[in-house]
Amino acid sequence: MGKIIAGKVSDIPPGKMIKISLDGKDIMVANIDGNFCAMDDSCTHSGASLSEGSLEGCVVTCGWHKAEFDCKTGKLVKFPAKINDLGTYNVTVESDDVFLEM
Ligand code: FES
Repeated sequence: MGKIIAGKVSDIPPGKMIKISLDGKDIMVANIDGNFCAMDDSCTHSGASLSEGSLEGCVVTCGWHKAEFDCKTGKLVKFPAKINDLGTYNVTVESDDVFLEM
């Protein structure tokens, strides 16, 4: 698929997350102190939108039942049950544009 524009750097200030939809797939893009990362937006527990949860450092906490994922690796950090990790995407920044590599 190649490189897809996710938004402007100014759309995603540090500590914030946005959700974008590409070909029916929802992906969250986060700005962690000026470094961007992206992973699947749908929580592998029950499908909540992770971009509607909270972000602390690189850990995203699901707003529904509090599963925690590392948005740099997509790996589950904390949850009482075993649930799947999430897919991640490379993010690059060129000028004021944020791109995902798909
Ligand atoms: S839907 Fe995310 S923890 Fe339940």
